[in-house]
Amino acid sequence: MQFPVKAGRPATLKTACAIVPLFEGESLSGPAKDLDKASGGVIRRLLRSGEVSAKTGRTLMVREARGPAKRLLLVGCGRRALFGLKQLGNALASAAHALGEGAVGDAVSYLSYEAGESIEPYSAARITVQTLRSALYRFDELKSKSESAPKLSRIAVAVADQAQAAAARRGVVHGQAIADGMDLARDLGNRPANICTPTHLAEVAKDVARRSPKMTVKILGEREMKRLGMGALLAVTQGAAEPSKLIVLEYRGAAKRSAPIALCGKGVTFDTGGISLKPPPKMDEMKFDMCGAAGVLGTMLSVGRLGLDCNVVAVIPACENMPGSRATRPGDIVTSLSGQTIEIINTDAEGRLILCDALTFAQRTYKPRIVLDVATLTGACVVALGAVYTGIFSTDDELAVSLLDAGRRSLDHTWRMPVDEEYGESLRSNFADFANCGSRDGGASVAAQFLSRFVSGTPWAHLDIAGVAWRANANKGATGRPVPLLVDFLLNSAH
Ligand code: BES
Ligand code: MN
Ligand code: ZN
Repeated sequence: MQFPVKAGRPATLKTACAIVPLFEGESLSGPAKDLDKASGGVIRRLLRSGEVSAKTGRTLMVREARGPAKRLLLVGCGRRALFGLKQLGNALASAAHALGEGAVGDAVSYLSYEAGESIEPYSAARITVQTLRSALYRFDELKSKSESAPKLSRIAVAVADQAQAAAARRGVVHGQAIADGMDLARDLGNRPANICTPTHLAEVAKDVARRSPKMTVKILGEREMKRLGMGALLAVTQGAAEPSKLIVLEYRGAAKRSAPIALCGKGVTFDTGGISLKPPPKMDEMKFDMCGAAGVLGTMLSVGRLGLDCNVVAVIPACENMPGSRATRPGDIVTSLSGQTIEIINTDAEGRLILCDALTFAQRTYKPRIVLDVATLTGACVVALGAVYTGIFSTDDELAVSLLDAGRRSLDHTWRMPVDEEYGESLRSNFADFANCGSRDGGASVAAQFLSRFVSGTPWAHLDIAGVAWRANANKGATGRPVPLLVDFLLNSAH
């Protein structure tokens, strides 16, 4: 999909479809006014008759309009004073929905034309690309017949003048990079576990590295992990026939001595629960348990595309969690890479076991200035935050605030959750240093507390994406979150 930026008066741009914002409680102005005039007052007539409304989320496709636009897609945007980035995102999503079904080949979006006052042209353009590409994403690689190919191939972003156009072009480039990363994360998440194995993730990582001259990849196998002493990670994979991998991507955008930001992504390509087997309902969704890894790989793809001027390293532990005669038993005790011993009370609390070794590995190997981990870690986080917010757990206030800000700027929202010491009390074990799970109450914070024990002296944040990484039910599928969040965070911490 192409997103050219066009500056100039709306009534002069020829297109198959103009996407026009309507604001509540005011008379027509800007693009709506110009296009209304050019098409003989059709917008005014439809508003008067009540066939279209400026209420948020309402859309109407006007076919056979006169003037430079063959069609007008009218989009209700609510009150102008309340129209911020989030409202722009929602308006774009409604517009994409209406466009998706049509036979339109190209369009011009005026949704951000007047957003200029409250939203920067850069942000507006970036969100336009991110939202429209995200809404038009399809996953049909495993259908024997591909469903209707979308005709839409070009959506112009209209802005008022040349100064805005320059900023908007930068926004489009960044938006495209983010959308590429999201597409990769979604493809990986949507692929079933018999295709998206740890080996597949490693192959995709190699491909991501090949696409950027500043990126290199290393894949560690089980023998190397054993030699290093990653007892926690190996305990999770030992019941699986599928070999596990530790995927390491290094991106060098700055001087060698500049400490990198480390991203660790949970890559459980299927989580049966292991011997602590999960119940059957919805177990198919545990193919999405590698969405932390997918989000990190997607982010690395975006980073390569953008050529960011900072160092970033991705550490992705990838394995299956399977039951079987070789599987870890509840009560087994293992020694993590950090040297701390863990009693595995519940084999279904496997994410923290692979992540703790990845966190130790990342800190020891790279001495990062910040370490983030991204994981579909707990059902408790889904209960707490639903599909709306990613849970941020951090012992570093400044880092937490940066991630909250990045969430707002990228419309990939985050909510801070506590990680106080008290949440770790239930991890007490009579036999090992501590157990891998404790109280069910506050489970998302208990898991974060467990992870915090593997971080020392590095600003750290844990992102629990269990609720946001995929949608369930009729629209089941990966969302591409938290790629926009992570890319925004990196864009703003480049130096
Ligand atoms: N992958 C799951 C978390 C999960 C469950 C994400 C459902 C999304 C939807 C994780 O490995 C897990 O099983 N966590 C357990 C931890 C518990 C045993 C302490 C959970 O949340 O129930
Ligand atoms: Mn589990
Ligand atoms: Zn899991």
